[in-house]
Amino acid sequence: MEAKEKYNRVSCIYDFLEAVMENSAFSRYRMILMKELPCNGKVLEIGIGTGKNISYYPSSVEVTGIDFSIGMLKFAKKRQKAFQGSKLTLLEMDAQNMTFESNTFDAVVSTFVFCTVPDPVKGLKEAKRVLKKEGKAIFLEHMRSQNGFINTFLYLANVITKPLFGTSTVRDTKRNILQAGFEIEKEIHLVFDVVRIFVCTKKT
Ligand SMILES: C[S@@+](CC[C@H](N)C(=O)[O-])C[C@H]1O[C@@H](n2cnc3c(N)ncnc32)[C@H](O)[C@@H]1O
Repeated sequence: MEAKEKYNRVSCIYDFLEAVMENSAFSRYRMILMKELPCNGKVLEIGIGTGKNISYYPSSVEVTGIDFSIGMLKFAKKRQKAFQGSKLTLLEMDAQNMTFESNTFDAVVSTFVFCTVPDPVKGLKEAKRVLKKEGKAIFLEHMRSQNGFINTFLYLANVITKPLFGTSTVRDTKRNILQAGFEIEKEIHLVFDVVRIFVCTKKT
């Protein structure tokens, strides 16, 4: 079963499954990410899922959220009314093949997505393509550690997350970001070096 079908299948219990992590940590990480976001302009959120970031966006930005799981998007639509004051568009789209024109967005955002995108470098290259020349890409992602001991736990977690969600806990997302051609301006470590925020620009 592909990741897209896996997310469709778990979409109705996804928020419940993540509730403890969301309330104890993820919500704080989302707020940290939003501090890096430009105050206005067009923002693309890749893999918007059930729309957990929606309420954190400043009302001055115009957000387009994409996801390849129609099941997850259904829940994001329910959250749409929380996004008051500004425009939010939700679209079913694969991050690996976006239909947007190049240089469209002032900012691109992802939270816990490139651990699942089947070809992460392809998806990240697409993120770079649709980002404006002076734009910012902000990725909040979990990844493998530089620490072998931590990685043992991540490999064990992978045994559960891979079949359930198609999500890898051991991807080298920093390498993937660099391979896609981004320049990392800022790197924030939130949980050891496993959960990080990368603030990136397009390499000139
Ligand atoms: C772990 S969830 C995170 C959802 C949300 N960003 C959040 O922070 O709660 C990963 C999301 O990425 C989406 N996704 C994974 N690969 C994708 C792709 N190639 N194109 C679009 N969405 C994708 C999944 O459908 C899922 O909704």
